[in-house]
Formats: sequence, structure tokens, C-alpha cells
Amino acid sequence: MDRTLTLLGIESSCDDTAAAVVRERVGGRPEILSSEVAGQTALHEAFGGVVPEIAARAHAERLDGVVEAALQRAGIGLGDLDAVAVTAGPGLIGGVLSGVMLARGLAAARALPLVAVNHLAGHALTPRLTDGIDFPYLMLLVSGGHCQFLLVTGADGFRRLGGTIDDAPGEAFDKTAKLLGLPQPGGPAVEAEAVRGDPLRFRFPRPLLDREGCDLSFSGLKTALLRARDALVAEKGGITLQDRRDLCAGFQAAVAEVLAVKTARALDLAGLRPTALAVAGGVAANGVVRTALKSAAARACIPFLAPPLQFCTDNAAMIAWAGIERLRAGLPPSPEFVARPRWPLDEAAPALLGSGRKGAKA
Ligand code: KG4
Ligand code: ZN
Repeated sequence: MDRTLTLLGIESSCDDTAAAVVRERVGGRPEILSSEVAGQTALHEAFGGVVPEIAARAHAERLDGVVEAALQRAGIGLGDLDAVAVTAGPGLIGGVLSGVMLARGLAAARALPLVAVNHLAGHALTPRLTDGIDFPYLMLLVSGGHCQFLLVTGADGFRRLGGTIDDAPGEAFDKTAKLLGLPQPGGPAVEAEAVRGDPLRFRFPRPLLDREGCDLSFSGLKTALLRARDALVAEKGGITLQDRRDLCAGFQAAVAEVLAVKTARALDLAGLRPTALAVAGGVAANGVVRTALKSAAARACIPFLAPPLQFCTDNAAMIAWAGIERLRAGLPPSPEFVARPRWPLDEAAPALLGSGRKGAKA
């Protein structure tokens, strides 16, 4: 195989249209030559969630421009690429298909290998792109659509140790914000309120801590918050600013504690000592959650690693990188692949229940 690989990555599985160019020389650190992301928050705002048809149309309209921008910023042409990698699932199928069709077209036009990438593999392999860590490591994926613990052992080696049985934590933050009249996305708004709140005033449940293993649940927490809010309203006719801060702080403390305790359980379940605990997903931006996870890693005497936020959330550099990892590992390109709305990384693990606001959970 060539000593240098330069891949174009394409991502369109949810509400971000993204393209990126990543280059790796054998023995050198990978370089992210460009990473373009066109978000769609404004298009979906009025609907309170991602509307699949609107997302698919927006991807179809924007993909060409985003790919052109990625190549231009990288300072290369299609002729400089060694392969094209594209998200083939899981996600909203209309968007996935838009990306897959463009990738197929580019690969066919230039006779380039086409690599189908699982979106979750992109997230899970990111710490190797940004920090060069070695396998095996424990990855906690915590976003608006996903929550799972993965033991990452290779380019195609993922063991799911546990995951949420209902909502993802980001979803719970977003719903909490909605219940308290705070703006979306809810995570940053709830975190900002919690700064001046008392995390001990409301003792919210720590769901599933009594159950063995590292599965998680967040929908009960949201219900508990709703009850606490309604009790205040019944008692005083409304909630004060301080009530809201305290509710946010109590909710955030519960999420952070549950994630930390379950991380310790996942480390036990791994059955080996991982090189690091790594996180990905928007919720990893939360300071209290990070501190709790950092402590869990410190107790296990392993480093804690959070890639820069732009590579923690949806992007195409992670897709290009997952493509490079697959080619380097000798996994064959996959010209005949089928786009999949549901595509668990660990096919042997039992299916997770529920469906997130961004489509079926993998
Ligand atoms: O990774 P991401 O961009 O992927 C998805 O779109 O799923 O994550 C977005 C999620 C949202 O639910 C958002 O509320 C949450 O991450 N989030 C946060 C914070 N920043 C973003 N949750 C808690 N605290 C934050 N600071
Ligand atoms: Zn994602």
C-alpha cells in the first residue's frame, strides 16, 4: 500500500453536511487538511427536532459545494485522492443516500476505491486521529442521539459493553431545557444555569445504578424533573430564577454521576486495562460531566482524553480517518455496500431499545 494516503470523507447522516480531506504518511501523524461542516440548525428550529425530509433535501443541495470547499481548502484536486470514504449509516436514510450517491459518482469518475464507513466508527476512532492513542481503549459516545460504551480494539473491532435503553443524555439535556423555558440546544443552556445552582437541593434519581452492567437510562430523570417543576408551580404558582438554576444543577449532577459510575462498571467489564478513556459527542463539552469522567479515569489509573469539540461532534474528518484506518488494516474497499439506517457497530451485542430524536439508535 502507498506510504501516503489522502482521503476525502463525506458525512450526511443527520443534520450536518460535511466533507473533509485527511492525509496520513506511514510513520507520521495524520493531517486534517480541511474539515468543512454546514449545519442545519436554523432549518429545523421551528419543528423542535430534525425533520428527515428537510434534512435530506438540504444535504442534496449543499453536498457539492461543501465537497468543493473541502478540496479547495486542502489545496488539492480529485486527482490527488487515493480513495473516497462515506458514511453509509446509521442515520436518517435520505441524508445518508445523498452522501453515498455523491461518493459513488466521484469514485466512479476517478476510478477510486470507495470505503463505506459506519458513522459511529468515525466517532469511535477519532481519538487516534487527534491524539494518536493505541488500541484498545474505552470510548464513551455521549451525544444528542447516542450513548454507548465501546471497547475499541481495531479499525473494525468494537465491543459494545452497554448503552442507553431509552434517551441519549443530550436528548435529556434538550428536553430539560424545553421544560424550563431555556433555548436549544439545551445542553449549553442548562450548564450555564447550573453554574449558580445548588446541585443538592433536588435529589434526582440515578437511574439503573441498581442494575448490574453499564446500561443507562435517562427518560426517568426527565420525568423526575418535570414532577419537581410541577410541584413548585403548584406550591407557589411558578418557579423563580433560583429554582430553575437549582433544577438544572440537580439534573446535571445526576447525569454526571450516572455516567461516571457506569464508566467505572464499563472499565470492569472490559476485562483488560485500556490505554485510555476517551469521549466523543456534544455532551462531552459539559464541564461537570468531563470532571466526573476524568475522576473515573484517574481512579482506574488511565488517561482521560476528549478530542477538540469540532471533532467530538459530527464532522467528515472522522469519516475520512476511519476510511484510512480500514485501508491500513487491509480491510477491502466496499463498492457494493448498501446504505443502512440502522447499523450497530457491534453486531453481536443485543439491540438497544428506543429511538433517538435523530432516528433509530444503532
Ligand atoms: O455530538 P452532537 O453535536 O450530536 C448530535 O447532534 O447528536 O451533540 C449534540 C448534543 C445536544 O443534545 C446538546 O444539547 C448536547 O450535545 N450538548 C451539551 C453541551 N453542549 C452540547 N450537553 C450538555 N452540556 C453541554 N455543554
Ligand atoms: Zn454523530
